[in-house]
This record gives sequence, structure tokens and C-alpha cells, in this order.
Amino acid sequence: MKRIGVLTSGGDCSGMNAAIRSVVRNALQANLEVIGFQQGFSGLLDEKYILMDTRSVSGILQRAGTILQTARCQEFMFDRGQKEAIRILEKLQIDGLIVIGGNGSLTGALALHQKGIRVIGIPATIDNDIYGTDMAIGVDTALNTIVNCIDIIRDTASSHDRAFIIEVMGRESGYLALVSAIASGAEAAIIPEVPYDLEKIAENLYRRYKEGRTNSLVIVAEGAASAYTIERKLKNLIGYETRISVLGHIQRGGTTTVFDRLLASKFGQNAVDLLLEGKSGLITVLRGNEYTYFPMDEAVSKKKTLSPQLLELAKRLAS
Ligand code: F6P
Repeated sequence: MKRIGVLTSGGDCSGMNAAIRSVVRNALQANLEVIGFQQGFSGLLDEKYILMDTRSVSGILQRAGTILQTARCQEFMFDRGQKEAIRILEKLQIDGLIVIGGNGSLTGALALHQKGIRVIGIPATIDNDIYGTDMAIGVDTALNTIVNCIDIIRDTASSHDRAFIIEVMGRESGYLALVSAIASGAEAAIIPEVPYDLEKIAENLYRRYKEGRTNSLVIVAEGAASAYTIERKLKNLIGYETRISVLGHIQRGGTTTVFDRLLASKFGQNAVDLLLEGKSGLITVLRGNEYTYFPMDEAVSKKKTLSPQLLELAKRLAS
């Protein structure tokens, strides 16, 4: 193995840069050349790449975003795009590819693996919806940002006796909403995985209000409902003032936390090691306290579920 490629794909998240840095530095240590494809699979198809040296990844460990940029590539979802990518990888004499991204990106990576390219995936998405790993890169940083924002909102909610409906990201997963609700002491979390009863939530908020607990926070995962819809319905039921806050893309940036820097660095190291061992079709994972690997086909075909213990904890703490 002489030359490998690396790319970031799909929605960005904090920690992608730390992963790129680790891939590059681990590969260089093993005397591999590293090609960085720009703008994900789109850049691969457009042959947009740079040769990466150790200086090219200096000063990026803490920075969110991705120096390689990223994209969601429609063309790559089809056979023709994948075959073209293989032609380019072979022309550039790339012996192995590391794909850093979420479910969609890892599905693309799997297609390349199934067509004979040596590929390792690194799970990176704030949604934490990748089966096989306890944590993906970016989740911890996003959660810290969300909880900081919610703490700030709590300050103003308490000054005015208001209920805030706060929408967080999570296209199909309520992980961010659930964990941020627990960590911020929110009164309710509305998530796609659990059917919700707005009347019951309103009853609980109203009971608390009567007891003198006159401000409350309801966290809504975007995949479950829009904060606007929830607010419109709750407003009439709870009998005190409501406001809405949609956190949006600030959840995707922010200085990378120590946890994410370590996770990304370790995943980067393991991805390079797996390629050097001749492995392919795997993703790097964290399970319990162990950094290990997991089959990519299972990771992209199975749906990750929320921990029942976390769900129970959220329920008990919000009462
Ligand atoms: O998958 C990560 C994510 O941040 C989701 O939580 C969100 O729904 C989506 O990406 C937003 O994507 P975009 O930045 O393309 O609007």
C-alpha cells in the first residue's frame, strides 16, 4: 500500500478536521502518501484533490467544519457515478480510501467496497444515528453547544414566566433532543422514536405552573415535529406565555470538545491501521470503552435505537 485517499462527505460536524489530521499524520508515519479529495464524493468525481503533508493539517484540531469541504452528492448514489469514481481512484493509484461522514456517506463508501475498492468509514454526524457505534464524531460538541444555548434560554424563561419550545437537529433521530433535555433539566422532550401526547405534556406543564414552577422548556427534535407546530398547539393548552427558539446550524459548528478530538484522533488512527492490515468494508467504532471496528453493511442497513435507560431517566427527571 503506497497511497490512500481521504474525504469528508454529507453534513459537516465538529471533529471532522481532527479526524482528517489524524488520518494524514498516521498515514505519513506509515510512509503512505495521502490524497485529500475536496467536497466529498463530488470532488472525487471532479478530480478535485490535494496532496496532504503534515503541515497541511496544522492548526485544525480544534476547528469545526472540514478543510476538505463536504457535499451531498446525488450523482454518486447511482451505479454510473460509482463506476466513474472507481476509474478515477484507479487512475490516481489510490490503494485505499477513508470516508468520514454519516449514514448516506457510509452507504456510498459501502458501494465502493462492494465494487472492489478498499474502503474504511469513520462515523461523523451530529445525529448519532449510526448503528454499531455508541458515539459518532461531532455529537459531543453539538450537545455541548445545545446545552449551553438551553441554559441561556432558561435564564430568560425564568425572568418572564414563559415556556420555551426549543427545536434541535436530528432528522430521524431524537438522540440530541433526549440527551440535551436530560442535561439541561428540560421539562419535556418530543422525539421521533416515541409517540407524544401534547395534552399530557400541557397538563404536566400546567400542574407545575400552579405549583409555582412558572417557566419550562420543551425540547423538540426536528424529526418529530416543528417547534412552530408544537407551540401553536401548546399555547392554547397551558395558559401562560410561550416562545420559540430554533437552534439551527449553530449546532454543527463550535470548538471541538476534548471528547470529540480524542474520538476523531483515535478513529483516524484505527482507519489507517485497518487499511494497512488489508481490511475493507468496515467502520471504526466506539463500543463501551473499546475503540474497535464494525461491518459497514450492517452499520448502514440497521437502525440505531435509543437506550431505554436514557428514555426512562428523561421521564423520571422531568416529573
Ligand atoms: O445529518 C446531520 C444534520 O445536521 C441533521 O441533523 C439535519 O437535519 C441536516 O443535517 C441538515 O442538513 P443541511 O445542512 O444540508 O440542511
